[in-house]
Amino acid sequence: MLFFLIDKQKTKHYNKNSEVNPEESEAYKLRRKIGILTAGGDCPGLNAAIRGVAKASYERFDVEFIGIADGYRGLIEGDYRTMGQSEFSGILTLGGTILGTSRRPYRNMQVIEEDNVDKVALMKSNYMRMGLDCLVTLGGNGTHKTANLLSEEGLNVIALPKTIDNDIYGTDVTFGFHTAVDIATDVVDRIHTTANSHGRVMVIELMGNKAGWLTLYAGIAGGADIILLPEMPYSLDSVIASIEKRIENRHRFTIIVVAEGAYDKTMAKMKNKERIQFLKEKNFPTISYYLASEIEQKTGLETRVVIPGHYLRGGNPSPYDRVLSTQFGSYAARLIEKGQYGQTVAMVNGKISSNPLKVAASQSKFVPKDHQMIKCGNDIGVSFGQE
Ligand code: F6P
Repeated sequence: MLFFLIDKQKTKHYNKNSEVNPEESEAYKLRRKIGILTAGGDCPGLNAAIRGVAKASYERFDVEFIGIADGYRGLIEGDYRTMGQSEFSGILTLGGTILGTSRRPYRNMQVIEEDNVDKVALMKSNYMRMGLDCLVTLGGNGTHKTANLLSEEGLNVIALPKTIDNDIYGTDVTFGFHTAVDIATDVVDRIHTTANSHGRVMVIELMGNKAGWLTLYAGIAGGADIILLPEMPYSLDSVIASIEKRIENRHRFTIIVVAEGAYDKTMAKMKNKERIQFLKEKNFPTISYYLASEIEQKTGLETRVVIPGHYLRGGNPSPYDRVLSTQFGSYAARLIEKGQYGQTVAMVNGKISSNPLKVAASQSKFVPKDHQMIKCGNDIGVSFGQE
């Protein structure tokens, strides 16, 4: 007969008639059962990080991995499976995530919606049912907030910081970011040639709703003339003045990189939802269409919009991200071995380390107005749309 017992955080299955219960053996007790999930938007480096956690764990201790499907969806719905060691090989260079992902906004996690589901209670009971010693979450800000909530609810959680937005507090860098910078820079490079051929203003919109790191890095790396960030509401007059100055200086084209969440000084007075409504009413799908239309009206210059969108998150990770993800993953295994839970892995002043989850989940990392790259941009004549 099969018994199903819940012993603190361990669920055990064993045959009552057998003399020795293998799960009572010393080896079994030392064995760690790790649940792993990837949540939020995907990015290059997720599989490399999963591999890093797994390989370093197999090296360090006796371990069993449970792959949880599609982030917190799988944890809520109990969609998971035991993974074999071989599944963690051959995935270093693979984009996306072998576990699947989904968005489950943190703000709704504690809300009982129409389906009457208590998501937090389900996540906790599924953790118990799987008999986990630890849950590893790979994700961005929202993922960290839910991970911290679960940690405060008593689960053993280790997080890893991924996002092309690079906006997780307490880490110098997140994995996925530099690959996205490489892709975005390639877009800016390629747009230069067509901008020059046609003598146009090109507005390139890059991902980043609240944080402009990707736009700032790709803008400087790609030699953009104007860089517009969500952290620095722009003045349209200043943008127009920079374009006109380039014409006076006999430049044939102007390249503008704008973060998807950037807005002008007028829109700065609005709330986020009002800004979306403002653009919608004017029939502009995004900020770059609004900006391009204003530029054309005010300068008469032919202006085009380019939006690489999810292309920025696609494909294989760069060597930098493969290294970073592997370092983050292997460090997570060390934390698990030591039983140091409630932590998120981080790069702090160039060194792999960790921060308390509650600190990482407490705020986001934005581009400061006095960041050295803004100063550098100013020094070389890049406009940030400021007066
Ligand atoms: O958080 C990463 C990110 O790529 C943001 O830059 C972007 O605003 C968002 O995800 C897009 O989300 P989705 O993939 O759900 O459209």
